[in-house]
Amino acid sequence: MNIQKYLKKKIQQICIKNGLKKNFDPLIKKNIKSNDIDYQINGIIKLKNTMPGSLYELAKKISCDMEKSNIYKKISVSKNGFINITLRSSWLCKHVNKMFISKNLNISKKKKKTIVIDYSSPNIAKNMHIGHLRSTILGDVTARVMEFLGHNVIKQNHIGDWGTPFGMLITQFQLKKPSINQSNDITYHDAYLNYKKDPFFASQVKKNIVKLQKKNKKCLKIWNILVQSTIKKNKLIYKKLNVSLTDKDIRGESYYHFMIPEIISDLKKKKIAIKYNKCTLVYLKKFTNRLGKKMGVIIKKKDGAFLYTTTDLACLKYRCETLHADRIIYYIDSRQKQHLLQVWDIAKQANYIPKKTILEHHSFGMILDKNKKPFKTRNGITIQLMDLLNESISRAKKIIIKKNNIISNKDINKISERIGIGSIKYFDLSKNRTLNYIFNWDQMLSLEGNTALYILYAYTRIQSIMNKGKLKYLCNKNKIKIFTNYERKLTFSILQFEKTLLMLEKYGTPHLMCNYLYDLAEKFSKFYENCSILSAKEKHIKASRMKLSSLTAKVIKKGLYLLGIKTVKKM
Ligand code: ARG
Repeated sequence: MNIQKYLKKKIQQICIKNGLKKNFDPLIKKNIKSNDIDYQINGIIKLKNTMPGSLYELAKKISCDMEKSNIYKKISVSKNGFINITLRSSWLCKHVNKMFISKNLNISKKKKKTIVIDYSSPNIAKNMHIGHLRSTILGDVTARVMEFLGHNVIKQNHIGDWGTPFGMLITQFQLKKPSINQSNDITYHDAYLNYKKDPFFASQVKKNIVKLQKKNKKCLKIWNILVQSTIKKNKLIYKKLNVSLTDKDIRGESYYHFMIPEIISDLKKKKIAIKYNKCTLVYLKKFTNRLGKKMGVIIKKKDGAFLYTTTDLACLKYRCETLHADRIIYYIDSRQKQHLLQVWDIAKQANYIPKKTILEHHSFGMILDKNKKPFKTRNGITIQLMDLLNESISRAKKIIIKKNNIISNKDINKISERIGIGSIKYFDLSKNRTLNYIFNWDQMLSLEGNTALYILYAYTRIQSIMNKGKLKYLCNKNKIKIFTNYERKLTFSILQFEKTLLMLEKYGTPHLMCNYLYDLAEKFSKFYENCSILSAKEKHIKASRMKLSSLTAKVIKKGLYLLGIKTVKKM
């Protein structure tokens, strides 16, 4: 149930009936200020001059028609034309009861779209570091949300498995001749140092790049070993992070190689690309360089090599033509904005993007330390993602041991893993993705505030109610009813779930789900502290409250699932 959408439709119908504007957006806002008003209609001002009379009179006219419906308990109109709405509790109950019995929390069906999501996308022969956290988990939330809403989701892990770095990596491999188990020891970092200091090494690098591009068998074999060993290592991180990416989602840069020669000749034919100084170059329409002249981007170098931009261009064409994407969403950090815009610009000039396809860069900010510098180790080295996750787990373990003596050793490991990983993810996801944020272990693992622990704690409280109470109370015969304002607020919060999901669908902003879950958990705590549940005197009250608690747990669990966070039964 999306209440706002429902009310909007009702009001639009009233407007049409009264000969007012069609498709009028009444701007319905949830009211957080006053205790007994649920929503406020702010858009009457847009109807000004469509009818004689003041804004107040217009609003009054609409509100009179609204009063005929039985969903409102109270409607009031302010002097300047705002309409305040309080919904009938019985109407809220009707919908929350529907949600209780529905398998998918009564989320309405949507038109199915094909959505390509480009996320994680680390480079081969480099360890995943803290910089990969955001792309990986933000993209994964969007994939989960879109799947839950019934879309056809195509995840694409655009790994960096091609290009000039492989000349260095293959040369380093030939130098070190590692066994299969040691192939992870071949790092881009070491290869680069040799390349810089050893001219012979550097000359081999050049030869190997050409060989690899010509698909030389020996080079391809080494390339494959390097790619597979990095993938194997990254899989451990995905598993630990509870990220849904698998092998079948990998489509790295190398995949698009077969398309590139044709694209280059097509761009030349269409007079979009030109030869310049033995390179192939595209002039961009919307970009100018520092001198104010049209900006050129190289898509093929003098030595015949293709670039990151060229690959992304082919990749975009593939996503449109072969994957038939309706939406393509890139989770890449904000520093690559210009790169993406350039790729899109070329693709649009070349007519590779069908009208229906929407391109979106869901960019994100950086993770900083308390001095607002990029978060690094004490020695100034980039933090490895696996180290960060392990530290979070061990910190969570300490907290749990300190707080608890009922949990067995076996359970402690499982619970600390879930809480450690959940906390790190939640902390990140709860921040507006477009902004930088400051990493802080104490805030992240706090039981107070908008944290994973706070939400999980509410969840475990409900589990303990369910363990103590008789489950027969949850049967269909019993209904959720509202007896106090605490229950009303909790019910109202539960009914905001769909609206929240739709915001995530539209904008890819998981922090809104975190804010939502925080509100829900808070409303539950107030209800729990002020209303007797298991000790309620009358049976129908007890049943209603148990059902309300159980539904709250269902929504929390689903919300956390969509954030890629596992729940715990106790902590
Ligand atoms: N491998 C790139 C990097 O580590 C990210 C790739 C993002 N996706 C894309 N289609 N360019 O910076």
